[in-house]
Amino acid sequence: MDLTQSPAKNASPVSSMIPCFLRGFFENPLKVASFVPSSGYLQAKLSSLPCLQTARNVVELGPGTGATTSALLNVLPENSNLLCIEVVSEFVNQLQQMTDARLLVEEGSALDLEAILRSNHMSAPDVIVSGVPFSVMSPDEGRHLIQSIHRVLAPGGTFVTYQFRSSVCELAEDCFGAPQRRSFILWNLPPLELYLWKKQSDL
Ligand SMILES: C[S@@+](CC[C@H](N)C(=O)[O-])C[C@H]1O[C@@H](n2cnc3c(N)ncnc32)[C@H](O)[C@@H]1O
Repeated sequence: MDLTQSPAKNASPVSSMIPCFLRGFFENPLKVASFVPSSGYLQAKLSSLPCLQTARNVVELGPGTGATTSALLNVLPENSNLLCIEVVSEFVNQLQQMTDARLLVEEGSALDLEAILRSNHMSAPDVIVSGVPFSVMSPDEGRHLIQSIHRVLAPGGTFVTYQFRSSVCELAEDCFGAPQRRSFILWNLPPLELYLWKKQSDL
């Protein structure tokens, strides 16, 4: 449990994203699952992950209005690529206003991850970060998403997700085993937990 992590220095001003996020939440409550973007504390936790420092190909599922996307871009190398997949059109419009040559935004569902990677000619991601709420998906959709993530990740690659409920652990057990790391983030609305798994390199 980590209650001491302070917000990222270059964390995006979450307050400026709130009107768009709120509209997205009221129109798609089950998909968005939270009425404000993730806090600076979660952004700081993501930015501190060592796997991002050397990553070349990164995918973010459910970037929302871009709070977590900014945190990733703050630490990813200059020669990396970040492909974001977001299902809510208004969030996609907001994300498309971010000007960073490493960033590519796709409107679509994380459930089509494999097709979206193929159509963007992106090779196996080193890291996949997901904010998509597994607890509101059907068990079949959740399993499908976990299996796709596991299939497309590079050997030794990292899967990171932050969730309000722990149902993702059960879904991931068969492919990934138990999470290598869990961090509780109290300073978020609502509080959540970050989970990290590594895909075995010899699979
Ligand atoms: C809890 S919010 C996290 C948003 C943002 N990453 C943040 O931390 O502020 C979940 C996000 O996942 C998106 N989402 C939900 N289901 C999705 C799906 N099947 N494919 C892609 N995005 C999805 C929602 O629209 C929303 O933006």
